[in-house]
Amino acid sequence: MTAPDPKPQTWTILELLRWTTQHFSDLGIETPRLDAECLLASALGVDRMRLYLDFDKPASPGERDAFRELVRRRAGERVPVAQLIGVKEFWSLPLLVTADVLSPRPDTETLVAAALDRLPERDTDARILEIGTGSGAVALAIASERPRARITATDVSPAALKVAERNARKLGLEERIEFLEGSLFGPVLGRRFELVVSNPPYLAESERSQLAPELAHEPDVALFAGQDGLAILRDLVAGCTAFLAPDGGFALELAPEQAPTVAHWLREAGLGDVITHRDLAQRPRVVSARGPSPPTSEIG
Ligand SMILES: C[S@@+](CC[C@H](N)C(=O)[O-])C[C@H]1O[C@@H](n2cnc3c(N)ncnc32)[C@H](O)[C@@H]1O
Repeated sequence: MTAPDPKPQTWTILELLRWTTQHFSDLGIETPRLDAECLLASALGVDRMRLYLDFDKPASPGERDAFRELVRRRAGERVPVAQLIGVKEFWSLPLLVTADVLSPRPDTETLVAAALDRLPERDTDARILEIGTGSGAVALAIASERPRARITATDVSPAALKVAERNARKLGLEERIEFLEGSLFGPVLGRRFELVVSNPPYLAESERSQLAPELAHEPDVALFAGQDGLAILRDLVAGCTAFLAPDGGFALELAPEQAPTVAHWLREAGLGDVITHRDLAQRPRVVSARGPSPPTSEIG
């Protein structure tokens, strides 16, 4: 199949969308129409809904060139759409995305919902820790829902932290979020939080060759965690009780097959109320728990 040029001489918005959707679909791209719409809207500098109002409008040669280049990179190099257009919506927040961060996934909204369940009061002034913030998606979504909470967001990647900081400023949430560089609980030694949340890397190195080609464009450090994919989840569970305030909430995103193992580890580590949360496709994607209560002698 050739790119949508030069025949016919004039391509309307609708024709460009139809051609590209078919092309992406033939290549096995998962969401062909959505991807085509996002790329065309970006090439035209409009929002996606505008395309529907302009279906019969011809695209100019300059617009077609810009679109063709985006289609080429999506189809040929399998660059994720979010990286091509530089933005991804998460929890209704428009987030900047670069090749330095994992593009936030809709599945991760399950983690945000589980975390918010652990802090049900909107007006809570809780201290919240997110480990491995990437674009800042989870920390910013929680900050937007809990307007008095103070959030600490960490990452091992300084480049990712720069993106997260830009997102916090863009959304006007920077006053309530501190960003710290370092591994696991290293940046917050000696501190305790009412909620600790993480979507850590959890893919197995051994699966690398079977993964979608898009993942090759995302940072390795955001994806892989040792041969079995459990290395970071294991460390997070082992370390968490030292950083949870009494009865503090803890929530982890993981791969569906990892849920029973991690739930078991959490109980072994002394956490209670262990819950497995399912995503929209009913797959177990998050395990949450409550940290130990204070010893009875400290109560009252
Ligand atoms: C799966 S991505 C999640 C990004 C973002 N929180 C989200 O949900 O879209 C994992 C993030 O953890 C970071 N990371 C990897 N190893 C880490 C470690 N040992 N300590 C802290 N962060 C780590 C990566 O740089 C990456 O940004």
